[in-house]
Amino acid sequence: MLDKVKELIGEVNDFKATTKEELEAFRIKYMGKKGILNDLFAEFKNVANDQKKEFGQALNTFKNAAEGKVNELRANLEEASLNTSSLNDLTRPAEPLNLGSRHPISIVKNQIIDVFSRIGFTVSEGPEIEDDWHNFTALNLPEYHPARDMQDTFFIEQNPDILLRTHTSSVQTRYMENNEPPIRTLSPGRVFRNEDISARAHCIFHQVEGLYIDTDVSFADLKQTLLYFTQEMFGKSKIRLRPSYFPFTEPSAEVDIYWGLETETDYKITKGTGWLEIMGCGMVDPNVLKNANIDPTKYSGYAFGMGIERIAMLLYQIPDIRMFYENDVRFLEQFKSIN
Ligand code: DAH
Repeated sequence: MLDKVKELIGEVNDFKATTKEELEAFRIKYMGKKGILNDLFAEFKNVANDQKKEFGQALNTFKNAAEGKVNELRANLEEASLNTSSLNDLTRPAEPLNLGSRHPISIVKNQIIDVFSRIGFTVSEGPEIEDDWHNFTALNLPEYHPARDMQDTFFIEQNPDILLRTHTSSVQTRYMENNEPPIRTLSPGRVFRNEDISARAHCIFHQVEGLYIDTDVSFADLKQTLLYFTQEMFGKSKIRLRPSYFPFTEPSAEVDIYWGLETETDYKITKGTGWLEIMGCGMVDPNVLKNANIDPTKYSGYAFGMGIERIAMLLYQIPDIRMFYENDVRFLEQFKSIN
């Protein structure tokens, strides 16, 4: 009998309740009218006289343990319910929300799109895995053309060649295949080149390609568009066009803007000249139009291509291209205020 009471005391001490219902069931089981405690008190008269004292003490311990437990658990549950109801307090100040930020590449890409969309350009995209035709041949770079070496290519399959596009000019080809002139389109996207990674070069980067085709498009139209772009994008409209060579344009030019020589960084990024190259451009080569079944005797056009990283590095004074891809939040968080 005594052992049974000791066992019950252990049980009571170990008991835990997570809800009021569990606690009430516990109370009824041990302390209710027909509960264990009353049963045991009823047994008292049957206990042998010489054991009465010890049994009585054990019963009292048991009773105190049960009462103590009920009081303790009731208090705990009440406190917990107070805590949860404070969560529903609508007057509490909100937890601060940690807002994300746009990636600088996206910021600059969106700015470029914004500037050109104001003069009627729409956005088009193409696949990153390309065939030889769209990336090279249709752009006036037939097989064995030496200019293919200008862009070190990642090949995926050979004969027929499937590759990672080396420039967004590939989207030009696709767009011309599927749309009739007049064409005014801007193609942003990721490009890939098998180049050593350094502070200034990466094997993955981003470009924006522009293409304008209509009747009577001239080099003067191209120049005016570039002036508008540099003014809107950089607040600078002193530019120069250096004759250059791209297989898909004739004539071709590289565009420099006059960045100025006001700060030490200006000296660094312009190598002391004040001038900075920002893109390639030119009049679409008649062969490229022909390859896309556009009549070059009727239509002409201009095209341009620029690297997004380069422009982002300029605008935000980012010294190393690798920072764009490291996803270091300390770097990314600095762009929070810009969208
Ligand atoms: N595709 C060229 C490159 O990746 C950039 C370029 C230059 C694009 C001249 C053009 C262009 O559309 O006309 O280096």
